[in-house]
Amino acid sequence: HDPKTPQYRTDDPTSFGYISARERWPVIITQGIDDVYRSTGAAKDPELEREGKWVISELARLKHELQHDRELSPLVDDGEPDVAAYNEELEALGNPKWHAVPWLYAECYLYRRISTIFKQTQKWKSYDLFARQKMSTFRSSRPAVVELAARYKSIVNDLESKHTIKGAGTQQELEEAEKVLFQEMSEICLWGNATDLSLLTNLSYEDLQKLQGSDARKASEKNILVNDLAKAFSILSAAQKSGQKERRVDIVLDNAGFELFVDLILAGYLLAAGLATTVVLHPKSIPWFVSDVLPQDFASLLSALADPQTFYSTVSEDDKRAGKTPTPLSDTEVGDLKLLLEHWAGFHAEGQLMLRPNLFWTAAGSYWRLPKTEPSLFEDLKESELVIFKGDLNYRKLTSDAAWPAATPFTEAIGPLGPGSGIRILALRTCKADVVVGLPEGEDERIKATEGGGGDSGSRKWAWSGKWAVVQLCDGKA
Ligand code: F6P
Ligand code: MG
Repeated sequence: HDPKTPQYRTDDPTSFGYISARERWPVIITQGIDDVYRSTGAAKDPELEREGKWVISELARLKHELQHDRELSPLVDDGEPDVAAYNEELEALGNPKWHAVPWLYAECYLYRRISTIFKQTQKWKSYDLFARQKMSTFRSSRPAVVELAARYKSIVNDLESKHTIKGAGTQQELEEAEKVLFQEMSEICLWGNATDLSLLTNLSYEDLQKLQGSDARKASEKNILVNDLAKAFSILSAAQKSGQKERRVDIVLDNAGFELFVDLILAGYLLAAGLATTVVLHPKSIPWFVSDVLPQDFASLLSALADPQTFYSTVSEDDKRAGKTPTPLSDTEVGDLKLLLEHWAGFHAEGQLMLRPNLFWTAAGSYWRLPKTEPSLFEDLKESELVIFKGDLNYRKLTSDAAWPAATPFTEAIGPLGPGSGIRILALRTCKADVVVGLPEGEDERIKATEGGGGDSGSRKWAWSGKWAVVQLCDGKA
């Protein structure tokens, strides 16, 4: 149940996987070591300190193996049920080395391997070595967060007043307004993905803030190469009109912090507009691709919003270095942020907004395997009106990270999740890897020919930076 088209690999110099294995991953491990080092230094408990030192030495060993192109060693049994599948696949791949292995498997293995280290301890079992980075980046996205909170308030007010004057405006006008808002909220949610931390190894905080404002979003619309949002809206709107009582939307989450914030903006909008009656969020179960959402990140976000003044008065590492002190939020800003929290907490308390973790999301294989390896999750997703897959890694897994020609239809590249699967899939993805499908004939070549696009180097460089995006739908219920 994997495609015949070969996957991208770390020994292909034209693939971003090549650079990832040699340059990006060692940096990510080093940042992890620095984090554990800080927490170990602050430990008052000698056992915590002893184990912390062991964790650091294991992380250093992993980095050494990676940089010296050793074989990927079988995962030690840390008591979790997914170890066997990781090791079986490793064996099937012929015990490959770091610099000559399918990119997707190796990158998933990297994070799973890191988590075995923590799981073998007593005191660090649920420690997230990326939590500090996630929170401090969220803090630095304050301008966009504040702007969006104000926007959310006005949308919710509008929605409420529009519904009360429903008889006055025409039905068509109301629908048109809802469609425009749906597209706006979804695009906010899409571009929120441009800024994940695994790529931050080469983005400055200034770049990050530029990527997040509303002007940036408008300017970026031309960078959405395929945009199926109108079709997605029609599906949700038709279900709403049909009078169907239960209408669920799922979001397979990607990154914590700012991206989770915008995912919740979209979720809140869908619920407030009645385009969904429940939203199910799918987080990861172990620290994953640096910034992916863990259940505790959801809790941290809500508690930051519960007391935003305190949250934003904590000086970030970056500001400390620059000698900056944060300006307090205005009363209106605090009010807007608290309103958001009340909305989301209310939906959560009512069971309309829930988290549903599953180990499938941190397996090494592509989503082509979903029906066979996780049939209960597959059945569960069929219950949903629309399953939104956020971000780059989810897209790589949907398409099996295979080297498809760029004009391959999206519906074909997702294999068993395609037509007839019973699942409706919407991918919201900013491109940060090699694989791209569903483009009009000639489009890939056109962008390759632009500055920095890769030219005839054989690399699809334009698709590595998060500048371009695709929004693709496959209606597996049709
Ligand atoms: O391309 C860099 C990279 O880390 C990929 O390895 C990975 O697929 C992706 O970015 C993670 O991005 P996202 O958070 O959007 O899934
Ligand atoms: Mg991610």
